[in-house]
Amino acid sequence: MSSSETTYYHDIRKLGINKNHWYAVARSIDVKTKPYSITLWHQPVVLYRDQNRKVHALEDLCPHRLVKLSSGRAIDDEIECTYHGWRFKSSGECSTVPYLANNQKLPTCKIRVFPVQEKDGFIWLFPGEKSLQKVISPLAIPEWEHLNYIATVSVIKSHSHYSYLVENLMDMHHGHLHKNWQAWAAAQLIDLSENDQQVDAYYQAQSYYKIDKIWSISQLFFPSLRQLHPEPLNVSYIYPNWVSNLGKDFKIYCLLSPINETETLAYLIHFTSLHAFWRLHKLPEWFRQFIKKSLFGSAQKLLDGLVQQDIEMISQEQQAYQKYPQRRGYELNRALVSTQRLIKNQALK
Ligand code: FES
Ligand SMILES: [Fe+2]
Repeated sequence: MSSSETTYYHDIRKLGINKNHWYAVARSIDVKTKPYSITLWHQPVVLYRDQNRKVHALEDLCPHRLVKLSSGRAIDDEIECTYHGWRFKSSGECSTVPYLANNQKLPTCKIRVFPVQEKDGFIWLFPGEKSLQKVISPLAIPEWEHLNYIATVSVIKSHSHYSYLVENLMDMHHGHLHKNWQAWAAAQLIDLSENDQQVDAYYQAQSYYKIDKIWSISQLFFPSLRQLHPEPLNVSYIYPNWVSNLGKDFKIYCLLSPINETETLAYLIHFTSLHAFWRLHKLPEWFRQFIKKSLFGSAQKLLDGLVQQDIEMISQEQQAYQKYPQRRGYELNRALVSTQRLIKNQALK
């Protein structure tokens, strides 16, 4: 093996997460008054909205017989277990037992409550030390509200450890896999920097799309109009999430919500920038809102297509790891060594 090759750290595939971060565990549109169940790194949580649309997050376990509270229903800001009808306040205390005798007191059980906030279209949960929740912020996604950006969201459900997904996202040489979708080509790693919070990899790549004139939108439908041209392609693993820029026209986020060692939920958010259309920016705000809303999801087919191909590859990696636990892969990309180092350092913090 040459000195430029590096073997994988194999034990990385069993590592947990650093809980002292905000995790995007659901989309805002998924959470209604009907309880919604999620799992973040082995921790089952029930999410629900109260009458003021505020979201609450409690451990998804009824303290009576340990069934799922998410099978029950929300009543105002309380949640009622479906089995015997015990009710719990959003602060976790039991408020009602329907068959409590006159000489009995309410049980003093208290369900674990998680800090939760709704921001940029997602529900963010903080599973760590409560005292740190104010010191650390969820990843900012300014393009979510900004009128110059059109968003598309694709949900990633993969049967693999989250490290395989992060490595996929940091290794831009895998444009090869997506060649039928003409995502990007010929990536070369130019520079790399890292600290204990993030890894930034700077690639130079070729892009097929250039969104600079109104008519250039037609490239999306007619591949013959696309022309390869050089663009910087920067990817960053900002633990626990990922952000990328391809030139000025495209920005992509991946919000990771690992479920356990072999299941990962993530949200890929693709933004197309309308910054080149300066005439559009002079139109009334309500109209620009209307355009932003109407075009939401316009890259759905492309994004879902890319996600499918990635999921297939990282699932195969997971299966191979389980089948041949002693086998080591070979790696040439320095960005992955830094990525694995960050995963390790954060998980073992
Ligand atoms: S199990 Fe929940 S009320 Fe009995
Ligand atoms: Fe990909």
